[in-house]
Amino acid sequence: MRLVKKIKSMQNLSNTYKRKGRTIGFVPTMGYLHQGHLSLARQADRDTDVVVMSIYVNPLQFGPREDFKRYPRDLKRDMRLAARVGVDIIFAPEDKEMYPQGHSTFVNVEKLSEGLCGKSRPGHFKGVTTVIAKLFNIVHPDIAYFGQKDAQQARVIEKMVEDLNMNTKIKMMPIIRESDGLAMSSRNIYLTKEERKDALSLYRALKIAEAMLKEGKSNQREIIARMKKSIANKPSYRIDYIGIVDAKTLQPKRRLEGKVLIALAVWFGKTRLIDNIVVNIKKPACPGRSYSGQARETSNQ
Ligand code: PAJ
Repeated sequence: MRLVKKIKSMQNLSNTYKRKGRTIGFVPTMGYLHQGHLSLARQADRDTDVVVMSIYVNPLQFGPREDFKRYPRDLKRDMRLAARVGVDIIFAPEDKEMYPQGHSTFVNVEKLSEGLCGKSRPGHFKGVTTVIAKLFNIVHPDIAYFGQKDAQQARVIEKMVEDLNMNTKIKMMPIIRESDGLAMSSRNIYLTKEERKDALSLYRALKIAEAMLKEGKSNQREIIARMKKSIANKPSYRIDYIGIVDAKTLQPKRRLEGKVLIALAVWFGKTRLIDNIVVNIKKPACPGRSYSGQARETSNQ
C-alpha cells in the first residue's frame, strides 16, 4: 500500500492506471477508521482493480464552533487497517495544498442540502461537495463509495454528480452498527460511558418509528412524539431534529409511501450524533393529518 500526499502525484498515478485500462474505486474519508469505513473499502476491492482511500479532515465542512481541531486523527493506525481490506493507495493531502491561499471556487447543491443537517450546519454540505468535487478531479474514480450513515450527504453527492455530469458512479453502502445497534462513527470516541449507553436510544427510536410505519401508522406527529419519548432525556442532551422525509428528495411527505427516510441528530453533551433508517412502505398508508415532517427542538425536556 502506498501513501500519497501530493495532488500531482495522485493525479499522475490515476492517469497511469487509466491508461492501462484499470478501474479505480474511491473511498473518501476523514480517517480514524472503523468498520463502517472498512466496509466501503472492502466493496471497492471487490468491484474495482485499484482502491484509493482519501484521509483528509476537510476544514471547509466544519463550522467555526464545531470539532475540526479535536477531530480524532491517527494516520498510522488508519494505514494498518486500510492495508488489511485491500486499499492500494492512501491519499492524505495537506490543507495548504487542498486550499492554497486565494482558493475561491465552491460547489453547492441547492435544496437537497438545505433541510435536516443542512439547517443546523450552514455551509457544511457546500464544504463536502467542494472537497468531493476536488477529490474526484484528483483521483478520477470509476466508482466512489458512500455510507447510508450520512444519508443526506450521499444524496447531495449523487445530485452533484448528476447535475455536473461527473464521470463517476456513486455506490451507497449500508450502515454498519456496533453489536448493540449504535451506528459506528469516528465521533463515538468523544462519548463518556454514560453518554455511550444513552446514545443507544437513537437506534431504539428509529426502530420504534419503523415498527409504527410497518403497522400502517401514518400520523407523523404521533410517530415523532413516540420517538422523542424514547430518546434519553438529560439536561445536557438535546434533540437537534427528527425528520420523516422522502428518501430521494429529502422533502417532507404528506402521504407515507415508497421509500421513507427517518433521520435524526441528537446532542449527547458535546457530541452530536446522527442516525437514520429507510423504510419502504409498499401500500399507501391512509393519509394522516398534514404535517411539515420535521421537528426541531431547542430542548427535549
Ligand atoms: P467520514 O465521516 O470519515 O465518513 C467517510 C465515509 O464513511 C462516508 O461515506 C460515511 O457515510 C461512511 N460511514 C461512516 N460511518 C459509517 C457506518 N457506520 N456505516 C457505513 N458507512 C459509514 O463523511 C465524511 O467522512 C466526509 O464528509 C467526506 C465524505 C469524506 C468528505 O470530507
